[in-house]
Formats: sequence, C-alpha cells, structure tokens
Amino acid sequence: MRDYALITGASSGIGFELAKIFAREKYNLFLTARNKTKLEELQGEIRKSFDVDVLVIPKDLSLENSARELYDEIKNKNVKIEILVNNAGFGGYGEFVKTNLESEVNMINLNVTSLVKLTKYFLQDMFLQKSGKILNVASTAAFQPGPLMAIYYATKSFVLSFSEAIAEELEGSGITVTALCPGPTESGFQKTARITQSRLVKGRKLPSSKDVAKYGYKALMKGRRVAVHGFINSLITKAIRFIPRKVITKVVHFIQKERDSI
Ligand SMILES: NC(=O)c1ccc[n+]([C@@H]2O[C@H](COP(=O)([O-])OP(=O)(O)OC[C@H]3O[C@@H](n4cnc5c(N)ncnc54)[C@H](OP(=O)(O)O)[C@@H]3O)[C@@H](O)[C@H]2O)c1
Repeated sequence: MRDYALITGASSGIGFELAKIFAREKYNLFLTARNKTKLEELQGEIRKSFDVDVLVIPKDLSLENSARELYDEIKNKNVKIEILVNNAGFGGYGEFVKTNLESEVNMINLNVTSLVKLTKYFLQDMFLQKSGKILNVASTAAFQPGPLMAIYYATKSFVLSFSEAIAEELEGSGITVTALCPGPTESGFQKTARITQSRLVKGRKLPSSKDVAKYGYKALMKGRRVAVHGFINSLITKAIRFIPRKVITKVVHFIQKERDSI
C-alpha cells in the first residue's frame, strides 16, 4: 500500500477527477471541500472500484483556521502525506469597482492564503521525510492581468510565482512543486464565476476536467515546475512575453466581455 495524497476541492471538476486517478494509482486519499455529500459519494465510488483508504474531511478553506484544522486532523491520524494537491479555488466576474468585496476576500483566502498555509505545513513534514510532491493548480490566467476578473487572475499569478520560487529553493531536496495551468476547462468553475456568457468560453468546446487531471497527474509525477495544458494555451503563454502588457491587458478585457452585452 502506498502513501497518502491530500486533494483539496475534490467534490467536483478537476479535483474530483484527480482523486480517481490517484486512487487508480493506489494512493490512499484525504479528500476535502465544503460539500460533504459529494465527497462521500466520491468516497463510495472510489472504495467500490479501488482497494485504497479514502477519508473525507469537509472544510471551508476560505475560513481563517480551516487550513490549520485540516493539517491537525490529518496529523492526528499519524500517516505520511506524500502528495499535496492544492486545487480548491473559484473565480468571480465583474468590474472591480462594482464587485462584492467579501466574496473577493474569500477568494484570496481560498486561492492564496489557504494554499500557502497548507504548503507550509505539509512541506515542513516532507522536508523532514526528504520526499514529497506538491501540485498547485494555477491557471493560464496567471500569465497576464485579467480585467473583469482582476482578483482571480491576480490570485493565480501569485500561485504561479510562489510555486516556481519554492520549486527552485527545493531543487535537490527530494521534493518537487508543480504549477498546473489549465486554460478554460469544463467544470463547475464557469457557473460559479458567472462567466458562461463570456467570449472566453461561450460556444467553445472546452477540454474536460478528466483530460486536465490526467495531464496534471503526469506533470506532477515528472516533477515539472510549470505545466500549461493544451498546445495553443502553451503557445499563447509563451508568446505574450513578447507583447507589451498594456496590449495584452486590452485583449483580455475584450475577450472577457460578455458576448450578448456588446
Ligand atoms: N475550469 C476552469 O476553466 C479552470 C481554468 C484554470 C484553472 N482552474 C482552477 O482549477 C481549480 C479547480 O476548479 P474546477 O475547474 O475543477 O472548478 P469546480 O468544479 O468549481 O471545483 C472547485 C472545487 O473547489 C472547491 N471549493 C470552492 N470553494 C471552496 C471553499 N471555500 N473551501 C473549500 N473548497 C472549496 C469546490 O468544492 P465545494 O463547493 O464543495 O466547496 C470544488 O470541489 C481551481 O483552482 C480553479 O481556479 C479552473
């Protein structure tokens, strides 16, 4: 039997698919998100198909103490966490001057603060055990500013920058850190972020969460630092380095606008 993987945001989308991949690869699992019912359904599905231990710890990771509580509850079980997947996250749409501050602070707490806390707690243990792998789910949004989703893009820039920096610090330590950067992907994300009408996604056939999860798993196992899903996405994230940021920001603004409102 292999070690444990902790996956945040496992109740839907990319995290849900990652959980099934890790189970297939014989990892024991800790699954977390807010929706206990969905997590328990996934727990049942995994137990039926794979011979692994699956534990569910529901948490709202936008709350101040949740990351610490999650770490302590796992520590009490006396198991070795070999894999940490910081996947939970959400976005929000609208002009910053009009959007809801409380929701944006929750977004920063979830996408950034809890991700940093969980990385700190589990990395310190991995450092002592001289092995471990961390997958931080960023986004192609990490590579440029995002008018109409300003806070979301900024949180993902943080995740990318932070992950690359600590990956460098940990070179040779036996621990790898991978930033997974999906482009728009079919999941619950668009509905939560209220961007189903945006040019970014409307009328487009999006890659599935399963495809992105498979890609992320492989990148993690190879210990890649940055993994951008999709050939075109990868090309764009490289090409924009050569374009003035003001121009890119205007292009993103245009793309993010709702189709029907223009
Ligand atoms: N889909 C895309 O287009 C796309 C593109 C690039 C990057 N990403 C990133 O991929 C990651 C996964 O998103 P997804 O696309 O799979 O979307 P999703 O289907 O909406 O899944 C988001 C997951 O995060 C959990 N979550 C949300 N708020 C939470 C909170 N306060 N505390 C704990 N867990 C919370 C959700 O579970 P509960 O609701 O049960 O809490 C759910 O399991 C996110 O970090 C997202 O930013 C997505």
